[in-house]
Amino acid sequence: MTSAPLQCSVRTCGASLESQGRTWRCTHGHSFDVAREGYVNLLQPQDRRSAQPGDPAEAVAARAFLGAAGVGRALNQWLGDRVSAEAGLAADEVLLDVGCGTGDTLACLAEGCSCIRVGIDLSTDVARRAIRRAPGATIVVANADRHWPLQAQSVTVALSLHARRHPAEAARVLRPGGLLVVAVPAADDLHELRQALHGAGSTRERLTAVIEAHADGFHCEAQVRVRQTLWFEPDTLRALLQATYRGQRTQAAERATTLSGMWVTTASDVAMLRRG
Ligand SMILES: C[S@@+](CC[C@H](N)C(=O)[O-])C[C@H]1O[C@@H](n2cnc3c(N)ncnc32)[C@H](O)[C@@H]1O
Ligand SMILES: [Zn+2]
Repeated sequence: MTSAPLQCSVRTCGASLESQGRTWRCTHGHSFDVAREGYVNLLQPQDRRSAQPGDPAEAVAARAFLGAAGVGRALNQWLGDRVSAEAGLAADEVLLDVGCGTGDTLACLAEGCSCIRVGIDLSTDVARRAIRRAPGATIVVANADRHWPLQAQSVTVALSLHARRHPAEAARVLRPGGLLVVAVPAADDLHELRQALHGAGSTRERLTAVIEAHADGFHCEAQVRVRQTLWFEPDTLRALLQATYRGQRTQAAERATTLSGMWVTTASDVAMLRRG
């Protein structure tokens, strides 16, 4: 199998990395060992924002719990259909998931395509989970706000699902004609829960600003809303609050302890952005 087209993250280097057993090396002598768990950490000291980069462990665990409970399944199924329909996503082509989280999407997409799958996340805790969930994928620890450690024009499909966005890096790594799929929470995402906690249902629409931020280099081919409504038991509601940080607001956290089970809608607005 062809390996992922990773790029050396040493400042001012940027050479391509070659996979040699349990090590990735560039021609300038920089090397990165694959961790025991299977991910490769390309994070440079200047890219760390804290000693423990990424989301808090409770948020990561909560998100994994929600994934297992079916949250995100509708979006992954929709993506699976759309990505396998994408012309030319052959075995040597690259699908990149930026802010891949616990790997549900990469695992789900493995069913529909045999391409090279790469996930980037800032957290080593998340990377560990992602490699377990999506064993055939290359999982890279990196700060997607800075630099996406992939070679220029090497990616056919890039995903940013409720995750970091970097229009200039997306434009650099996608090949001409490639596809960037961006998902953000839709206005009615979790509206039943927000109503119960804050007495307010809907929030603002976010996708237009995302499309505008990518106008240089991408044109928006389609906008889709993907929705699912699930019955959440109190423990799933608590996980949802932890995963989305809403539980950290004191008043809301108090009200959350009184919640019984309820139907909750999760909704994403998705833009399909074609690289010119
Ligand atoms: C809300 S989760 C979304 C995960 C997944 N894409 C999904 O849809 O389920 C956001 C993810 O982005 C990661 N993240 C946060 N800041 C990041 C950064 N600067 N670079 C790369 N990943 C980052 C977090 O660790 C987390 O796994
Ligand atoms: Zn190098």
